[in-house]
Amino acid sequence: MISGRILAIETSCDETAAAVVDGGREIVASVVASQVALHAPTGGIVPEVAARAHLRWIVPVLEEARERAGIRDWSEVEAVAVTEGPGLAGSLLVGINAAKTLAWVHGRPLVPVNHLEGHIYAAWLRPEGGAESREPEFPLVALVVSGGHTFLVEMRDHLDYRLLGQTIDDAAGEAFDKVGRLLGLPYPGGPAIMRAAAAAEQLDRRFPRAWLGDSYDFSFSGLKTAARRAVELERGSNGKVSSGPSSGGSPLSESTVAELAWAFQESVVEVLATKTGRAAERVGARAIVLGGGVAANAVLRERIHGRAAALGIPLIVPAPELCTDNAAMIGAAGFHRARAGTRATAELDARPSLKLAV
Ligand code: KG4
Ligand code: ZN
Repeated sequence: MISGRILAIETSCDETAAAVVDGGREIVASVVASQVALHAPTGGIVPEVAARAHLRWIVPVLEEARERAGIRDWSEVEAVAVTEGPGLAGSLLVGINAAKTLAWVHGRPLVPVNHLEGHIYAAWLRPEGGAESREPEFPLVALVVSGGHTFLVEMRDHLDYRLLGQTIDDAAGEAFDKVGRLLGLPYPGGPAIMRAAAAAEQLDRRFPRAWLGDSYDFSFSGLKTAARRAVELERGSNGKVSSGPSSGGSPLSESTVAELAWAFQESVVEVLATKTGRAAERVGARAIVLGGGVAANAVLRERIHGRAAALGIPLIVPAPELCTDNAAMIGAAGFHRARAGTRATAELDARPSLKLAV
């Protein structure tokens, strides 16, 4: 039975990350090498470039995690957990091969983890600095909002997921990134839109909300189109098909960018918070868990916190650096996977379109 320290490796997208997590909750060490600067010039991730960067960084990141954890060699951990998917195949394989090698060399079990359950399990990690935090209680509702995924699940126990709803087009983070680009903001769009929106003075613009009836599904493509139209109108390039800040018309003023960013963020946040609150009420949740890169958004956190408070239940949301991709969350999920007896063989392969087991 696994009871203590696990080495976790995450390379599914554009962060090369390694962590040592104790008992599924305590972060002994967590190292993340971000490729944001590398992908900023293209405004998005180029898979080939990402995979090469993982190869460049995986060994230094592992060494840094080992040193920070005060570990002599990896035989001091009980298991090696690694993200098997979903994600970019070439990127996933770098982490998987490193994990396989270390598990084999040190005779430790290899535990495959779904990246999406990692985002959920970040809520179990104790905040760094030793602050006491509540462990999420079941049943709970978890909203995962990242660059590639947006979904709402009910959990009645560990590793037990029932899908309530998901995006039918873009992920929430993808919408932030695309609209950020339309507004001429730096990549990634999410944090840039949040910063721009905070400076908005005129708060009377309104973009549409896609409620999709009573369902827990989400849609952001209509909102993206509305944002594009508003940008074109502002720039006096109405009618022209534009996909970026470089196309026709005059540049947007800083105050217009702020107003549009605010209106867009409001629309996304209102739908996410309302549906999450409604789901929590309907399933009788004892907690709401929030995860994924977009959960780093302060307005979304605050709004869902309000919904949870109205229901008299806690909102458990990781620190912003644990919402975006990291390996500590893989260590938290890996701990429960390992306890449940999940093991991978030497044949473990990348699973780019792996779903959450529902
Ligand atoms: O979970 P994540 O790090 O990677 C994926 O698994 O996709 O999420 C990255 C996404 C990006 O789309 C980024 O724009 C968004 O999270 N994001 C934010 C914020 N910080 C990151 N979106 C809104 N507000 C933020 N503060
Ligand atoms: Zn992610």
